[in-house]
Amino acid sequence: MSGRFGVEGTTAIVTGASSGIGEVIATRFAADGANVVICSREQRNVDAVAERIEDSGGSALAVECDVTDREAVDDLVAAAVEAFGSIDALINNAGARFPTAFDEISEAEWKTVVDVNLHGTYRCTQAAGEHLKDGGGGTVINLGLSSAAGRRGTPSLSHYGAAKAAVIDLTTTLAYEWASDGVRVNCIAPGFVATPAIEAYLGVSAADLDRDAVDRSIALPEEIADVARFLASPASSHVVGETITVDGVPRIEETPEL
Ligand SMILES: NC(=O)c1ccc[n+]([C@@H]2O[C@H](COP(=O)([O-])OP(=O)(O)OC[C@H]3O[C@@H](n4cnc5c(N)ncnc54)[C@H](OP(=O)(O)O)[C@@H]3O)[C@@H](O)[C@H]2O)c1
Repeated sequence: MSGRFGVEGTTAIVTGASSGIGEVIATRFAADGANVVICSREQRNVDAVAERIEDSGGSALAVECDVTDREAVDDLVAAAVEAFGSIDALINNAGARFPTAFDEISEAEWKTVVDVNLHGTYRCTQAAGEHLKDGGGGTVINLGLSSAAGRRGTPSLSHYGAAKAAVIDLTTTLAYEWASDGVRVNCIAPGFVATPAIEAYLGVSAADLDRDAVDRSIALPEEIADVARFLASPASSHVVGETITVDGVPRIEETPEL
């Protein structure tokens, strides 16, 4: 899609793009005509996605990068700039969750989940910052977690929920700090999305979802990718520091009497 709602001609880094939401965001952006720089911990995993994008006529650079490794994150950003000259968008999508009851979460597990989801967002954003500002303005899109999921609780995911709450708070603060540099920072807060990880968590398969009788409690990754594209496009030029909830749940507690 070109024009105000598209990302044609931009360069976007998408972390954690070997599967799930990240893969679909990268594929959508590339189909629009964006250069996408995609990473995950396994080169061959992102190579496969880059190959599919290029086979469809898109432009993709696959880089092995663990977002818990500062040096690897710096190399990811350097590779993007070397390949495409600038960075317009950073989508902090890499995430990890290991369902465990709170009482049984070890210190190592807690730290790992926070390191990937929160510290990974910090590292990638700080590394890309100067390039987003240099390019005359850009966008950062973080992946949070729906507050409806928070209200219902996310059983066995207390570490993950805590890290995502911090990502949402970071979004607001950074949007304020970087607004004068022309960098818009926003967040998408999904509920459940049909990706391999969540299918395993919920014990459902995207293929089993009857999209005619649509189960609105589970989104498709494309429904998240469309919001990411909006947030990276000129159409959202006045949207700053927002967390957009995408969970199919109305924001009112009770249906008002009419
Ligand atoms: N699916 C949902 O219901 C849901 C709901 C709310 C929020 N979210 C958020 O949306 C994002 C994507 O979720 P998803 O369900 O699509 O996840 P997913 O299917 O589990 O995919 C996660 C991606 O992150 C990569 N990754 C994991 N650890 C990494 C690390 N340390 N460094 C770099 N890449 C890493 C994985 O690739 P490799 O294994 O190849 O490294 C994979 O590409 C996450 O931030 C998640 O928390 C998802």
